Amino acid sequence: MTAATINLTLHVWRQAGPRAPGSMVRYEAKGISTHMSFLEMLDVVNEGLIHGGHEPIAFDHDCREGICGMCGVVVNGIAHGPQAATTVCQLHMRHFKDGQVLYIEPWRAGTFPVIKDLIVDRSALDRIIEAGGYITAPTGGAQDANAILVGKDAADLAFDNAACIGCGACVAACPNASAMLFTAAKISHLAVLPQGQPERERRTLSMLATQDELGFGGCTNIGECAAVCPKQIPMESIARMNRELLRASLKRGRNKKL
Ligand code: SF4
Ligand code: FES
Repeated sequence: MTAATINLTLHVWRQAGPRAPGSMVRYEAKGISTHMSFLEMLDVVNEGLIHGGHEPIAFDHDCREGICGMCGVVVNGIAHGPQAATTVCQLHMRHFKDGQVLYIEPWRAGTFPVIKDLIVDRSALDRIIEAGGYITAPTGGAQDANAILVGKDAADLAFDNAACIGCGACVAACPNASAMLFTAAKISHLAVLPQGQPERERRTLSMLATQDELGFGGCTNIGECAAVCPKQIPMESIARMNRELLRASLKRGRNKKL
């Protein structure tokens, strides 16, 4: 079967470096196969730029399978583009129309400074994870880990929250540039497991304090984060995290070491 092809007009954010001024630059993407992914479409544009002696568009990617969290651009105002529950590397060109005009921008948040073009520095999310620290529960090898009984509901809840790939789309989509959905997913997936109990309160307090110190905004229940999340982390995770915070704060009141 021959793939259909489409022509697109792209307006892409180009910025030579963190301190350089940026602007939208127009490109024509011609003969794009609808079987291609969005990133493959950018690869085609980049091949043309390289052949013409121009600097290719810089964008982040790694697995291109929706599992690593490296990719992420805003397409026509939507983080990861128009397809729900889909990373931009798994977004296929069949979802676009021939002749469509696309505006492609990096994540926009003060905590995610632009490195170059569509690449931003998301290491602030790593700082939040680092603040969570390690777990002291001995889990042993695979066999030993399987010996720790985990209820089905808790296992499912932990797994759903562990699906967060740390892409940062939630931060980019939130008008407050809040990382609450990301942090909630990370806190939730350990808080419901037996292995996560020894440091449960300390982890919650530390991750949330670090998130605030880094300058992420607060949550005002707008819901844009969950709407763009490619892993469908729900707003309920933020509610659970708030309950974790209350529990940890009360416990800290009794135990100053937390
Ligand atoms: S919560 Fe969703 S949008 Fe936010 S970092 Fe995790 S996977 Fe990405
Ligand atoms: S490149 Fe890995 S999730 Fe998109």
